[in-house]
Amino acid sequence: MKRYERLADNIADLIRNGILAPGEKIPSVRQASQSYGVSPSTVFQAYYLLEDRGLIQARARSGYFVRSLAALPLPEPQPSLAPHQATDVDVSELVFSVLGSLKDPHTVPFGSAFPSPDLFPLARLARSMAHSLRNLSPHDIIADMTSGNPDLMRQIALRYMVSGVMLPMEELVITNGALEALNLALQSVTQAGDLVAIESPAFYACLQVLERLQLKAVEIPVHPRDGVDLGVLRERLGSLPIKACWFMSSFQNPLGASLDDSRKQELYNLLRQHQVPLIEDDVYADLYYGERPPTPIKGLDTDGLVMHCGSFSKTLAPGYRVGWVAGGRFTERIARLKLMTTISPSVPAQVAIADYLQHGGYDRHLRKLRHALERQQDAMLASAARHFPKGTRVTRPNGGYFLWFEFPEQVDSLQLFRLALAQGISLAPGPIFSASQGFRHCARLNHGHAWGADSEQAMELLGLMLRSF
Ligand SMILES: Cc1ncc(COP(=O)(O)O)c(C=O)c1O
Repeated sequence: MKRYERLADNIADLIRNGILAPGEKIPSVRQASQSYGVSPSTVFQAYYLLEDRGLIQARARSGYFVRSLAALPLPEPQPSLAPHQATDVDVSELVFSVLGSLKDPHTVPFGSAFPSPDLFPLARLARSMAHSLRNLSPHDIIADMTSGNPDLMRQIALRYMVSGVMLPMEELVITNGALEALNLALQSVTQAGDLVAIESPAFYACLQVLERLQLKAVEIPVHPRDGVDLGVLRERLGSLPIKACWFMSSFQNPLGASLDDSRKQELYNLLRQHQVPLIEDDVYADLYYGERPPTPIKGLDTDGLVMHCGSFSKTLAPGYRVGWVAGGRFTERIARLKLMTTISPSVPAQVAIADYLQHGGYDRHLRKLRHALERQQDAMLASAARHFPKGTRVTRPNGGYFLWFEFPEQVDSLQLFRLALAQGISLAPGPIFSASQGFRHCARLNHGHAWGADSEQAMELLGLMLRSF
């Protein structure tokens, strides 16, 4: 991180914590330069950055002031309610129509599921691909197809170890992205007609997997900050024959919610008591903004009950389609299901990522990526506070690149989606995240792309549309 970025972050923290209040003048460039021991040009750069993030504004001949809305984020959404009954899932048509509309490269991509590809070290990864392919033995290209490339598996196991989770390499199955891992994990423990506990709202692909496998959804409400409602889960596990849970423990999609360590333990104890397997979707774990990475529930798993699914799609190599599952006691079944369906993800993609993890500076890249995403979150929150109508609520996740907006009740997010698309702006409307097609007045917006004049203009336009309901 550059010096001016660090300074900007320090001041942003003071604003967020209310130490520098809205409307208050921030130290002059001369004062800041003296008290922080940096050059005036560093202070200027930091102030320009804070201006871009929407946290401060310059007033002619008076200096810089904290923007009136910067420290007054919109309030947090209300915790959701979920139906008592298990529901059949039928969302695919809606999801496909929304996803189909996201392909136009000229739209402002607030509806996208990925961060900007500009944030990924694709050129460096291509060098790893060329280098590792030159060294790949003809024998290995066949052998690596079954369980996965051993170098990649070693690198993944190492990353688990560094984050405090001891995992034998044999527990890993390399898959075509996390989505295949999640599919196989669920398939390994369910049959058509079974009940599966999922989050409400949930990642739409989770709903589609249930639909495809003819499983019934038991929707468990998710608190926008604290994660899945353990009281409701306890009651449902006691009263319904739930065969598996599919939850995200950190930076849940779409809410961004995370369970803290004690709630993770409580959830694990509950599942262990009922012997219900957990499919832990953890694809955003490396995108934390805090000091420490979140610990997965997998780290508490003494019974082999947790199938922990990860991916490089969101952090390094979208399109390479490389993910994995640490399958616990279900590993063998998962590996066989994979052999019966896709056999293997591409071996060249696996060796390229293995080489990059070993030599490419992944942790440095992740630090930069997290920093960019956090800055862009500030910019989107400040912009929403400026442009969206009174009554709008929003999450403020401590990682990832999604914000979940709850608009005033009368807003119909499917209609908003169509109106916005006609103006070249995409968004992900609330109903695609729900088996019961709830969350009609909600939407998920992606802040994974560089913030610029077009983003600001799109937020202003969305604000006008929201006011028209
Ligand atoms: C929560 C969640 N899980 C899994 C996936 C799928 O990841 P992959 O692209 O590695 O298959 C996504 C992608 O959008 C996601 O958001």
